[in-house]
Amino acid sequence: MKIRWNKILLFLLCLTPVFYLLWRAWNQDLTANPIEYITHFTGDWTIRLIVVTLAVTPLRKLLNLPGLVRYRRMIGLFAFFYGSLHFLTYVWLDKFFVWHDMLKDVAKRPFITAGFTAFVCLLPLAVTSTAGWIRRLGGKRWRQLHRLVYASAVAAVVHYYWLVKADHRAPIFYGSLVALLLAYRMAAAGRAAITGRRRVFAGRGLVPPTPPSLPSPHRTS
Ligand code: HEM
Repeated sequence: MKIRWNKILLFLLCLTPVFYLLWRAWNQDLTANPIEYITHFTGDWTIRLIVVTLAVTPLRKLLNLPGLVRYRRMIGLFAFFYGSLHFLTYVWLDKFFVWHDMLKDVAKRPFITAGFTAFVCLLPLAVTSTAGWIRRLGGKRWRQLHRLVYASAVAAVVHYYWLVKADHRAPIFYGSLVALLLAYRMAAAGRAAITGRRRVFAGRGLVPPTPPSLPSPHRTS
């Protein structure tokens, strides 16, 4: 059996933050407010890994590294893993499973609703990440469902922006990255639609008229 060292390395790399957290907990070094520290730490790693998951396809195309796609699922699942730790910290350590307290929080603090939305969007993606689910849903429907990762990313940015009181630099940074990746995705979809239409025309022997090359208004010669 061929050992996939790259995947093992990536797996260990994605586990590094949780090992770091456990190491600090072991050394009783989780700051004066451990719950706040764990919440922020796991929240940060969730949003980072969501952004990295979104960046895989553009990087793969821009750097001409088609093999990168093999690592997307693992990174996405780790985003879900850190999101689950983040949610669990809130439900367990922060709220002690007191559900009415959480409901009050949802009503009073909209950033909680946004965070919850971001997390719920990740759930079906984690469930359907297996080869069996890809087969069951079919490639097209699976891809459509997995566009939810963009909704999750946007909700995560809103969650972060709303919870920060003064310094908005970090949520704006993540927001810009998500906007850039979304713009890339939309441009790629637009290009694919145009190419598809051209193929249909060509198949019918109706090659669409190529736009005439107009002289540029800025051309001097
Ligand atoms: C994909 C889902 C989520 C992402 C990406 C995310 C991300 C984040 C980030 C980046 C932070 C701030 C970290 C920092 O300041 O360094 C944060 C804080 C927080 N998040 Fe989330 N979050 C998610 C879901 C949730 C959910 C479901 C809940 C609870 C229902 C939640 C509750 C909180 C709380 C209570 C804080 C701390 C707020 C404060 O310090 O005032 N998050 N989250």
